[in-house]
Amino acid sequence: EKGGYPHFMLKEIHEQQAALQATIGPRIKNGLPDLSECGLTDEYLKGLTGIHIVGCGTAMHAGMVGRTAIEKMARLPAFTQIASEFRYSDPILHPGDLVVIISQSGETLDTLAALKLAREKGAKTLAVVNVVGSSIARAADWTLYTHAGPEIAVASTKAYSVQLAVMYLLALRLALARGALDEHEVGYLTEQLQKAPALQQPLLKNCDQIQYLASQFMNSTDLFFMGRGFDYSLSLEGSLKLKEISYVHSEAYAAGELKHGTISLVTEGTPVIALATQDDVFEKTLSNVKEVKTRGARVILLCKEEAVVPEGAADYVVRLPRLESVFMPLLMIVPLQLFAYYMSVLRGCDVDKPRNLAKSVTVE
Ligand code: F6R
Repeated sequence: EKGGYPHFMLKEIHEQQAALQATIGPRIKNGLPDLSECGLTDEYLKGLTGIHIVGCGTAMHAGMVGRTAIEKMARLPAFTQIASEFRYSDPILHPGDLVVIISQSGETLDTLAALKLAREKGAKTLAVVNVVGSSIARAADWTLYTHAGPEIAVASTKAYSVQLAVMYLLALRLALARGALDEHEVGYLTEQLQKAPALQQPLLKNCDQIQYLASQFMNSTDLFFMGRGFDYSLSLEGSLKLKEISYVHSEAYAAGELKHGTISLVTEGTPVIALATQDDVFEKTLSNVKEVKTRGARVILLCKEEAVVPEGAADYVVRLPRLESVFMPLLMIVPLQLFAYYMSVLRGCDVDKPRNLAKSVTVE
C-alpha cells in the first residue's frame, strides 16, 4: 500500500504533482481560473471588503501564503488567524468580509468552531477541504475541495500543496473579478501556476542532495529557518515539519527580525536554512545571510536557478526551477519536506507516526 516507498510520507511527497494537477486542471477554463463550481460569483467577489483565513498548523501556514497572494494579486486586505485564537478573540468581521476555513481532514475541532463562530457573526464562509463530506465541508456556505486523495502520514505534505493551489486560484479569480489585474495578466499567471506541478519533478529527483544535506545536519540540536514574505511563511512550514517528525528544535524567523534578538543565538556552526526565492527582497535576505555567516553559521541557501549568489555566501546552495516568484512556494515546499523526512529517517524516528500526534485533532 506504500507503493514501493519505505514510508507513506515519502509516497505522499511524490504524489504532490498529480494532486496539484487534479486540483488546478479542472478549474482552468479558457486559460483563466474558474471557481463557479462552488457557487462563488464574480459579482460577490467584487464586493468583498476583506478576507480572514483561519486554520491550524500546516493548514494555517497555507493560509499565510494565500493571504500574501491575495494581497499581492487582488489588492484586497487579507488576514490570517490560528483557529484556536480566532474562536476566542471575539473577531471583528464586517458584513462584506469572507472567512476562508482551511482544513485537510475537515474535522479539526478548533477550525470547525471558528467556522461556526464566523457564521454566527453573520460572515460568509468558504471551506477549503480535502475530505469530501467532512463536517467543515458541510457547515460552510461554499466549499472548494482540494484533490490530494487520502493522506496517511501524520505530517501533512501533499495536502499543503493543494491548499496553496486553491488559494492561488482564489487570489487570481479575485484579482480578475476586482479588476486588480486584467485578463491578459491573469492569463499569464494562470499559465505559470499550471507549470508548477511539472517543475516539482526535478526537485523530487533531487532527493540525493537533500539526503546529503540532512546527513550533514542530523546531529544538530537547534536550527533556524529564515526568509521574507512568502519565504517567511515557508520557513514556518519547514520548521514545523522538521520539529514534528525529527524532534529537532527549530525556529522560523522573518529574516529582517533576526537582529532584534535571535541573532544572539547564532554562533560557530549554528545551522541556518535561508529561503530566498523572492526577487524583490532577494538582496535583503542575502544580507541577512551575510550577518549570520559572519557569526559562524553554517548556511543552506535555497534560491532560484538563476539567482546570483556570491562565492562563499552560503555553505550549500539548493537551486529551484524558474517560475514567477509568487508561485515559488509550490516548488520550495519539496526540499523542505524532503529535508524533514530525511532528518527523521536518519535520526531513527517514526516518520509516519510521530510521538504525541494524531492525524485529526478532534479535541480541544
Ligand atoms: C502538520 C499537520 C498539522 C495539521 C493541523 C490541521 O504536519 O499535519 O499541523 O495541518 O492539525 O489539520 P487539518 O488540516 O486536518 O485541519
